[in-house]
Amino acid sequence: MTRPPFCRGPRRAAPRGGVFANPANMKNDNPSLIVYPGTFDPITLGHLDLVERAAGLFDRVVLAVAAQSGKPGALFSAAERVAMAREVVAGLANVEVRRMDGMLVDFCRALGARVLLRGIRVYSDFEYEFQMALTNRKLAPEIETLFMIPKEEYNCVSSSIVREIESFGGDAARFVPPAVQRRLQARLAARARAAKKRGPE
Ligand code: COA
Repeated sequence: MTRPPFCRGPRRAAPRGGVFANPANMKNDNPSLIVYPGTFDPITLGHLDLVERAAGLFDRVVLAVAAQSGKPGALFSAAERVAMAREVVAGLANVEVRRMDGMLVDFCRALGARVLLRGIRVYSDFEYEFQMALTNRKLAPEIETLFMIPKEEYNCVSSSIVREIESFGGDAARFVPPAVQRRLQARLAARARAAKKRGPE
């Protein structure tokens, strides 16, 4: 299997005493597979920017849609988030979308993935990402977290900001693919109709 360009060249000796001291950890099941996890409620152009970058470097990218986000204000079900993400990445032959139930490290292990992709948009993302990467490393020392930076124009984008813009009648077209915007608008309109029917709270 082809290794990503930055993985090419002679394999260096594994460091002594660390994770790789255990020969079982030296087995690289799938060096050219990367998992990109998230809630993707909904997927944005910022997410897509990272997916495209990863697709150019790795043979296979698996976008893992976390079924249980635990976040307040969720708009789409897991099945809907998966469907939207599939629609958006349909043109990328080496990208697939899967639903993720449970722990991220278990998902990676089940796939034989050794690399995780996370995005850092702004400095304030770092603390959370740092904590998450270290926690995942404690849970699964053989899995590495790789960080990428999306295009500057997506630095301020998040799924909840996009949901908020559209819910107040704004236009989030600069931040989401057209198919996602259409679904967002339809869902928000349906919610507004339902709220109107219920009457004032
Ligand atoms: N472009 C645009 N927005 C981006 C972005 C990018 N490149 N990268 C992140 N974001 C946004 C997301 O849309 C999200 O917005 P929201 O909070 O408004 O929904 C926000 O930044 C945070 O994103 P992220 O850090 O990716 O969180 P997430 O909720 O999407 O994903 C999981 C978190 C699912 C990866 C994590 O909770 C997880 O691994 N869950 C599985 C259970 C587990 O293993 N837990 C232990 C983890 S240590």
